[in-house]
Amino acid sequence: MYVKIIVVIEMNKLLIKTMTTILTRSFKPFIFTSKYQNIIDYDDEVNLGLYVHIPFCEKICSFCPYCKMKYNEIKAKEYVVALLKEIDLVTKNHSKKEVTSLYFGGGTPSLVVNDLERIINKLKEHFTILGDIGIELHPRDINTELLKKLKAIGFTMISIGIQSFDIDSLTSLGRNKDEIEVIHQTIFNSLKEVKFSTVDMDLIFAVPKQTKESLIKDVETAFNYGATQISTYPFIDFTFANNEYKPLDKKTKKQMLNTIIDYVNEHDLDRTSVWTFGVKNTNKYSSITRDNYLGFGLSSVSLLKNSFKVNTFSSEEYIKRINEENLPTSLTIDFTRRQRMVYYLFWKTYGTRISKKEFYDFFGVSLKKMYGFELMCAKILGYVKETKEEYILTRKGAYFYHLIEQAYTTAYIDKMWHILRLEAFPDEMRL
Ligand SMILES: C[S@@+](CC[C@H](N)C(=O)[O-])C[C@H]1O[C@@H](n2cnc3c(N)ncnc32)[C@H](O)[C@@H]1O
Ligand code: SF4
Repeated sequence: MYVKIIVVIEMNKLLIKTMTTILTRSFKPFIFTSKYQNIIDYDDEVNLGLYVHIPFCEKICSFCPYCKMKYNEIKAKEYVVALLKEIDLVTKNHSKKEVTSLYFGGGTPSLVVNDLERIINKLKEHFTILGDIGIELHPRDINTELLKKLKAIGFTMISIGIQSFDIDSLTSLGRNKDEIEVIHQTIFNSLKEVKFSTVDMDLIFAVPKQTKESLIKDVETAFNYGATQISTYPFIDFTFANNEYKPLDKKTKKQMLNTIIDYVNEHDLDRTSVWTFGVKNTNKYSSITRDNYLGFGLSSVSLLKNSFKVNTFSSEEYIKRINEENLPTSLTIDFTRRQRMVYYLFWKTYGTRISKKEFYDFFGVSLKKMYGFELMCAKILGYVKETKEEYILTRKGAYFYHLIEQAYTTAYIDKMWHILRLEAFPDEMRL
């Protein structure tokens, strides 16, 4: 089993390495260093979004790879104080800037619900938020009172980490299934009473004991409960997670994904990304598929026109750096132009559409000039369709991408997060 996992990881690395070598026209790896600048230059960024990470959870789920820790009132208070200081440090000497959106993720941000308004107000001193404000919620925390509170603060989008409505699947994921029916009923009632423009529900598929029937029931229940979007993630076994049960095999994953797509097509829903599906004409909940964003808090990422920075994963070091008036950046990469293009295309393709105009506006060069050959091959293989304005991923292309995204997650994200969990400020990391 162990040998099989190593072989799969190495194969994924090879696949991703080959693709990035072709697309960047270079053997140069993505090199992240501790090279440190106490300033983030975001003034000229267009379509900038904001992300705030709250790393506390009431109970840690064994499958979860994110940067999080068990909730503790004192630690949470210290963290919020540091977070507010980080916002001051990052925005110091910058004029007020328009941003597209603000997302709170985690962890479980509603555990600090009474501090959220303070954090948003602090951000509003420095940013004008033009679009939606979204938050990730844990099913157990949802009730009418919480939703009303969030709405009053200004949240317009919520994302609920349901994972599954099915007791067997939840058990396989190691989630606590106590009172699960009461929890689900409370969500149903609360969402009827308090409306948000976007309600996303996260579901995981290819979980042991899950069947195609129970998965479709999950999808149906999510929409019946008032979801305007579902995010259906294939179960990924991160090397540092603590999964008792492993994901189902590749063939079953494919069948399950196809079952979801068939359901979505039959019900006239939109595929808004490789793994998200929504009701037509509703706004999409998507914290990651943004051109540029500034991240605040532990483990958060800032993606800018020419660089990518990730904050430390160590809460002690995060607070220490900030108290010394230093930014808590752990690793930075200054992209080569082609590397930035690959990163841009990676997330646009995940979103199933690459706009020719947007690419030109972002890079000042046409997509055809940079990647005409690759796009022609993708068209011949039936992975994309070309229209006057854009390239659109086909169902076949989206399946290929589903494999790429998982390979990238196991080869790159797993490695990066693994290292950052062990070392607060590594000297260098090569991907
Ligand atoms: C930041 S997390 C969750 C937010 C919230 N704290 C919760 O758990 O309810 C975002 C989503 O990633 C997905 N996810 C987490 N671990 C995963 C894994 N190992 N494989 C696939 N999807 C995963 C889950 O659907 C999860 O809701
Ligand atoms: S899945 Fe959600 S609640 Fe569970 S540990 Fe991860 S962030 Fe926390």
